[in-house]
Order: sequence, then C-alpha cells, then structure tokens
Amino acid sequence: MILNTIREADLTNKRVLIRVDFNVPLKGGVVTDATRINAALPTINYILEQKGTSLVVMSHFGRPKGKKNPDFSMVPVGKKFQELLGRPVRVASDVIGDEVRKEVASLKAGEVLLLENCRFYPDEEANDPEFAKELASYGDVYVNDAFGTAHRAHASTEGVAHYLPSYAGFLIEKEVKFMAPLLENPAKPFVAIIGGAKVSSKIGVLQSLLKTCDTMVIGGGMAYTFAKVMGRKVGNSLVESDYLQTAKDFLDAAAEKKVNVILPVDHVVADKFDENAAPVAVDSPDVPDGMMGMDVGPKTIALIKDALAGAGAIVWNGPLGVFEFDSFAKGTLEIAKAVAAASGITVVGGGDSVAAVNKFGLADKINHVSTGGGASLEFLQGLPLPGIEALRK
Ligand code: 3PG
Repeated sequence: MILNTIREADLTNKRVLIRVDFNVPLKGGVVTDATRINAALPTINYILEQKGTSLVVMSHFGRPKGKKNPDFSMVPVGKKFQELLGRPVRVASDVIGDEVRKEVASLKAGEVLLLENCRFYPDEEANDPEFAKELASYGDVYVNDAFGTAHRAHASTEGVAHYLPSYAGFLIEKEVKFMAPLLENPAKPFVAIIGGAKVSSKIGVLQSLLKTCDTMVIGGGMAYTFAKVMGRKVGNSLVESDYLQTAKDFLDAAAEKKVNVILPVDHVVADKFDENAAPVAVDSPDVPDGMMGMDVGPKTIALIKDALAGAGAIVWNGPLGVFEFDSFAKGTLEIAKAVAAASGITVVGGGDSVAAVNKFGLADKINHVSTGGGASLEFLQGLPLPGIEALRK
C-alpha cells in the first residue's frame, strides 16, 4: 500500500490541518492513558519544526451523538496535549462558525489550535461535504494521523481529503508498515493469536489471517464455539450457536490449507462469571458440566509458547481469558510475556490485548502496538479503511 506521506509535503509557511485520534480515556476530567496523544507527537513536532507552519488540530472525543455536550469537550484533552507537546495549545470555542474562523485566521507561525470535538455536529459522522469543505478551509494542507478512526468515513477523516493536498502522518505510516505485510507477505513462520469473547466479532480476522498464517491460536471465550464443533464438552462456557457452522467451515478450511490450529487443551474454569469465583484447574480439553472456561491452562500456554519461539512474525489480537479478573489473567499474561520475548516481528492490535500489554507493562517490548481498536480489527480483516484509502498515491 503506497501512501502520500508527510515527508513528501512542502509545508513551508503553511497552515496545516491535522486529524488525530485523541479519543483517550478520561476520569474526573483527567486523561488516564495518553498513549494516543503521545503517538501523534512525532508528526505534530515534525510539522511544527518546518519553517513558518501553524497547526489546526481536529479530533473526536467519545460519542456525543452530534450534539454539543460539555462532558465531551476537548478541553481536558487539550490540557494534556499542551503538557506533552511542551508548547501552548489553545482549544477553540467550537468546530465551525465565525468565531472559529477568526481563531484560525489569527494563528501565527508555531501556534497550535485544537478544535472542539468534531462530533458536536452530526455532519461529521454523516461526512457532509459542506462541513468537510468548511474544515478544509482551515488549512493549506491536510494530514491524517488518526489511525484509530481511519475505519470511519467521516468529514474530518475522509471528507476533507477531497478538498486539500492530503498526506499520511508518521503514525498511520507506521501502523500500515507493520500491519499490511501480515496480510500480504509476513515473515515466516507466521503465528496469529486471536482471542476475545465472540466468534462473531473475530471471524473476519480469522478468515483473513488464515490466508497467510502457519499457526492460528484461538483463545478466549470464542474458543468454546470451536471446541464444541470438535465434539468437546464445554459445560456452561460461552458458545455462539449461530456460529457453529461458521466455526466448522473455518476449521475445515484451516485443515485444507494445512494451517496448524491451536485450541485450548486445558483450562481454568469457574462455576460463575464473577471476579470472586474460585478458579479451578482442569487438565483436559473438556470443560466439566456446570463450569465455564475462564482462562487457558498451563499445557495450552506451553503449546502457544512453543509456536511463538520460532516465529518470524506474530500478531496478537484479543485476550486468552478473562484477564480483567486477576484469578483468570494468567493465560493472557503469559502470552503477553511470550510475545514480548519473541524474536520475530511482533504486532499487537485491538483494544483488549493492547490494554493487556499496557496492564502488564510490556508495551515497549512489542515491535508495534496498534493505536486502533476497531480500526486494527478492520485492517486485519483486509477491509479498506476510508481514512487511509483517501491518502493513497
Ligand atoms: C476508537 O476509540 O476506537 C476510535 O477513536 C473510534 O471511536 P468510535 O468507535 O467512536 O468511532
């Protein structure tokens, strides 16, 4: 995938309009995880280092449903952004309108203006051309570095690209650089570890990665739908009955392609889905009646570690167990550690597995931790992301 990147843009004396994904977690008005802000800084600093540039920054925050709502204001995010950027950031009074136009027009070289939440207007998500044109009027050049929102065809992510010379920032470039080869020509052997609760939300990724992977590890709640198809006992584990045939078809396709599929061969189970439920080790692929699978057991962990040890490339998307409950976090923790220690190229994508590597403090040992949740899931499914398509050469 060849994109127009910011390196090719002549930014001298330009007002640059940039879309970032500053949709960060906030608690009591304070940003609790600034990963996404930090991830956009290389591009922002690069722009500000060019002679005579000023910057208009756009992002959404949460889902205010097209209405102005102070709970979704960019002000607290702007405060953190200013702190991390180390220079003043003004938060605009709105997204569009005369006042904003004046604020934009008065920007001097080196100054940064963060627009209010672009989702305060329904026109953003509707990708309204007039709204996009208005946003585009704020800049001479458009840079998109919002990988986390690249799967949305919104005015600030896709619409503006129709009206301005448009370039990918370094974050989008890096996300694509690490993820595109997984779908095309990964280093071999290529191991995909796909976990999470539901087959329905991950089947697209499984099918897409089946084309290039040598080993597919299926873990988390969704493993039990596959286990049931294979005739194993699953007790009260999560099973999506609508997806039994899909799971069977997938296993047949994997067998035909000679892909090594690893499913849990032992488990940690509980009698209820509860943080305080007592963990019970089950040294069998079968889950006893009345119990539900909550995590993978030690034999499964060893099998996965063996596969990872010789891998040329590894992608991990989705936890192996209920890692948010400490008693059922071991499988996910051990796999996170094994991915971090692997010598192959390692990519972690998807909200929960990223949360897991962050929780365990392992993010800096992974070659690429995607800033996208839904976006990385769609990317790994091989779906075109509108925000990135708009930047293609
Ligand atoms: C995300 O957090 O995944 C992105 O910022 C996109 O947010 P959205 O799902 O509300 O479009």
